[in-house]
Amino acid sequence: MGSPPLDPRFTLHGDSPAIRSLLRTIDRVAESDAPVLIVGETGTGKELVARAIHQRSRRAAGALVAVNCGAIAPTLIQSELFGHERYAFTGAGQRRIGSFEAAHGGALFLDEIGELPLALQPALLRVLQDRLVTRLGASAPVPVDFRLLAATHVNLEQAIIDGRFREDLYYRINVLVLQVPPLRDRGDDLLVLAESFLSRFGADRRGPPVRGFTPDAVLAMQRHRWPGNVRELMNCVQRAVVLTEGVWIDAAALGLQRSPAAQRPLNLAQAREAFERELVRETLRLHGRRIAPAARQLGVSRVTLYRIVARLKLAGDLPPEEAARLLEAGGDSDSSGGSAADLSSGPTAGGVDVSDANHDRIGC
Ligand SMILES: Nc1ncnc2c1ncn2[C@@H]1O[C@H](COP(=O)(O)OP(=O)(O)OP(=O)(O)O)[C@@H](O)[C@H]1O
Ligand SMILES: [Mg+2]
Repeated sequence: MGSPPLDPRFTLHGDSPAIRSLLRTIDRVAESDAPVLIVGETGTGKELVARAIHQRSRRAAGALVAVNCGAIAPTLIQSELFGHERYAFTGAGQRRIGSFEAAHGGALFLDEIGELPLALQPALLRVLQDRLVTRLGASAPVPVDFRLLAATHVNLEQAIIDGRFREDLYYRINVLVLQVPPLRDRGDDLLVLAESFLSRFGADRRGPPVRGFTPDAVLAMQRHRWPGNVRELMNCVQRAVVLTEGVWIDAAALGLQRSPAAQRPLNLAQAREAFERELVRETLRLHGRRIAPAARQLGVSRVTLYRIVARLKLAGDLPPEEAARLLEAGGDSDSSGGSAADLSSGPTAGGVDVSDANHDRIGC
């Protein structure tokens, strides 16, 4: 087809029947220009699949513009997608091309499309139907030609029932649906992936090269449920490569073995805090330290999660720039609010509250 060579960074490792079938579907889907909906649990590789499709498509020479609908404040997403003219609104000092136009000739990847505000969904539908975009503050539309790739980890059919997603948009985007299997359904791919991450991160390591995993590490990996799927495995191996002093990675280095200290008797308050700490750390780890999806999973607002992180002194679990902001904001004191009750009393999962929008610049 004369397309550019495939980028090895976007290679899906694995040889299980589930992955082989997915790769075959990717090849077939890449030949078409119809919208694709990629569904799967968190960390399964949905974005990687989108990139693989684009790379194999006839649009490969064009850009793949990625927009995470869950990570942009609802108030900003319209101008992000549509762009704006100079002075279209307060603060719009420059004309800005939106993602629809930036994807012209290529593809637009709308990640977490289930998070697209309901009010904006008709506008997306119109663009997909008419292939015309009007920047905010502009009077005339411009034609756009992009392929839509979308991903979601939420069940959009349930979102339709709950009134959070429009049915007409759903039928427009789910022409071709790809299901990315969870890691637990990929058999020995677990070890293939673990080895591939070991060589990737091992190559950057100073000191003696890592030789491999110990038998107890292999067993612990096989026993673990991997709720965060490939991303969790990748983070786990990366951390172990950095922290291990020897040349073999064992279960403890992977964080898959409970330390004796974790089994000491606790009173109720200590047990509650230990559980809260574990849950928050684990959830941040599952979501690549991104506050917004972690807060969603925990059923609290981003602001509440920042407070909990500050109270539990877990700033080290955030990306360095966010930790620095938290410290600047005086958020490392115990008096910054939040309580164990926050974990169950925040806004409903998937909801974005007003305070979230205000804090999006801190979030991912
Ligand atoms: N089969 C695979 N082979 C190699 N790396 C993979 C594979 N699947 C996923 N990864 C890696 O795991 C990480 C998570 O993948 P990705 O971001 O595509 O998942 P996702 O489903 O979009 O996650 P989320 O739901 O959290 O957005 C990425 O670094 C990706 O490169
Ligand atoms: Mg993703």
